[in-house]
Amino acid sequence: MRVVEVSEPGGPDVLQVVQRPEPQPGEGEVVVAVEAAGVNPTDLAARQGMTVGDSARPPYVLGWDFAGTAVSVGPGAQLRPGRPVVGMVPWYAEHGRVGAYAERIAVPESWVLPRPDGLGAVEAATIPLNALTAAQLLDLLAPPPGADVLVTGASGAVGGYAVQLAAQAGHRVTAVAGTGDEEWVRGLGAAVVLGRDTDYTSIGTFGSVVDAVPVGEALFPAVAPGGTVLSTRPVTEAPAAAGITQRVMLVELDLPLLTRLVGEVAAGRLRTRVSSTFPLERAADAHRAAEEHGRRGKAVLEP
Ligand SMILES: NC(=O)c1ccc[n+]([C@@H]2O[C@H](COP(=O)([O-])OP(=O)(O)OC[C@H]3O[C@@H](n4cnc5c(N)ncnc54)[C@H](OP(=O)(O)O)[C@@H]3O)[C@@H](O)[C@H]2O)c1
Repeated sequence: MRVVEVSEPGGPDVLQVVQRPEPQPGEGEVVVAVEAAGVNPTDLAARQGMTVGDSARPPYVLGWDFAGTAVSVGPGAQLRPGRPVVGMVPWYAEHGRVGAYAERIAVPESWVLPRPDGLGAVEAATIPLNALTAAQLLDLLAPPPGADVLVTGASGAVGGYAVQLAAQAGHRVTAVAGTGDEEWVRGLGAAVVLGRDTDYTSIGTFGSVVDAVPVGEALFPAVAPGGTVLSTRPVTEAPAAAGITQRVMLVELDLPLLTRLVGEVAAGRLRTRVSSTFPLERAADAHRAAEEHGRRGKAVLEP
């Protein structure tokens, strides 16, 4: 069966389709025929060899988010073959041992949930990593009821979910979005939408900030003294004198939470978007597309 392998870190052209042995389900595992694998910024970084800690050593297969159909299960696994599923590979924790850019993957059943009726594989494959990250950022941020919340990268996946979840929780969201994408972000529930050229010294201050780009240092003037900013990647630390609490959060696979978020998308209460799909052989083109600005939605591979 075919996978997209990184044999040597580098540009998009290092992504090559190779044959690997057919995966077999071990104890408590399920083999999923992957119909869609989301392309995320972390994949672009991992392709270039930038991984967290002592992570993957080549050759490795990229990809966190997948959706498809369970085809076989190992002893002790409950899922029935034939069941549509969606799931997430905790790729860093696994050191790149298994990745979603593949025709089939064997994964613990605890990484997978049944895919609700009516939720297509391509759409589903844009949910896990980014919706979980947004939900966990907001849990950690814990804004007080009815807070003014600032979200950067609101036209992207993490920021887009953060806007929706914060607005639905009753907060007043000010969103900073990519150029020309204000209408989409307003539709997610943002009260105020600003452009990416925002001058953070002139928009007032916020006690609760999700920095999903992350913008980092430049937005510190918009964080109130005593306020908290949570970032999706390491940024320059806020000066102690600013009195700002600043943290980087790393997503954790939480299947009950993911089940709820997937259900919300399936029910139309959370929105996601796909910019384009690519066959496995065109993984390099998918990465090139994902590296462009203003693409409005995720690139998705269809193995
Ligand atoms: N820590 C974790 O566990 C975790 C989990 C998931 C993601 N992440 C990280 O979170 C970041 C966002 O991921 P994502 O999947 O949401 O990416 P994405 O879908 O590419 O979204 C990023 C969005 O930010 C916009 N943007 C870029 N620069 C901006 C700026 N200066 N001001 C306002 N908006 C700006 C982009 O617009 P344009 O397209 O116009 O540039 C794009 O819409 C990435 O760095 C990713 O690696 C971390």
